[in-house]
Amino acid sequence: SRLAFEPTTKPVPADERAKLLADPGFGRVFTDHMAIIEYDESKGWHDARVTARHPFKMDPASPVLHYAQEIFEGMKAYRRPGGGVALFRPDANARRFAKSAIRLAMPPLPEEMFLESVRGLVRADREWIPETEDGSLYLRPFMIANGSFLGMRPSTEFIYAVIASSVGAYFKGNAPSVSLWVTREYVRAAPGGTGEAKCGGNYAGSLIAQAEAIRNGCDQVVFLDAIERRWVEELGGMNVFFVFDDGSIRTPPLDGTILHGVTRDSLLTLARDMGAPVREEPYSIEQWKADAESGRLTEAFACGTAAVVTPIGRVKGVDGEFTIGGQSVGPLTMRLRSALVDIQRGHAPDPYGWTERV
Ligand code: COI
Repeated sequence: SRLAFEPTTKPVPADERAKLLADPGFGRVFTDHMAIIEYDESKGWHDARVTARHPFKMDPASPVLHYAQEIFEGMKAYRRPGGGVALFRPDANARRFAKSAIRLAMPPLPEEMFLESVRGLVRADREWIPETEDGSLYLRPFMIANGSFLGMRPSTEFIYAVIASSVGAYFKGNAPSVSLWVTREYVRAAPGGTGEAKCGGNYAGSLIAQAEAIRNGCDQVVFLDAIERRWVEELGGMNVFFVFDDGSIRTPPLDGTILHGVTRDSLLTLARDMGAPVREEPYSIEQWKADAESGRLTEAFACGTAAVVTPIGRVKGVDGEFTIGGQSVGPLTMRLRSALVDIQRGHAPDPYGWTERV
């Protein structure tokens, strides 16, 4: 179904918007519009539109409210030097969204509809992209099961929507690096579970551990594998990379319990093309500590659409803590970060065809 455009009659005035965009933070400033596509069994996907941002009206028996049948995506649109706007690898998000839908027993949204909805919203709200150096428009496509039924079976009605948030850096404060808390009590995902789907339930289950991290003075939680409670998997909302003194890079393999990060995948490509030996292999928390203490591990960083590339300076757990590379910002981390950001923002050529002008 073609995407209709119903412009809002009440846009936020330009001067008010300018104030919001001066220092937007992350995920608290929202734009004027949203995209919506509805689904039911008889009509399939229908009524695709970009319309004024508005609250949903739903029945209290809507399945998403009870059984969390929900998936989402995260992607960004950037201002380009010449005045245009570009998306970064939106096709990768469209593919992952369809895979998440299948895992959560939802109807996969055709990738072209996903892309059109995102492009349509970016065109409607392009003025909402901050002009600050680290500013972008964070796009949040999501799908929820709707209807009125408490039986335990997949819903037959769904709402797909995209909202947009003007954002700056995810981590506030000007510390050069973030600190991690290794939870021993909680796991994020187990084999056969939903770990590699981008579903809200994964994040709901991680919040108690994230709160534990904050109580312990740390920025993010580190999850270990569910079986041996040894192997580093991912952080509360981002993937993790390790850098060694021989210039090699390691990140946990995608074995079913780890989110297939688009930023993760892009950095692997950039690192290989810089000539850095790259391994997607398990890495244990004991080895991480030993390597950090011996100096064999020189850098570590978190990565994601929201986090971009953020250096990790300190790792703390129930049995003590260690620092990484004297908590300074590592050179390979920064080289990778710049290579990625320069492509995203159009400050460097894009040999991979990752950016799409909108
Ligand atoms: C993203 O990086 O887009 C994410 O999904 C992280 C988010 C949970 C803040």
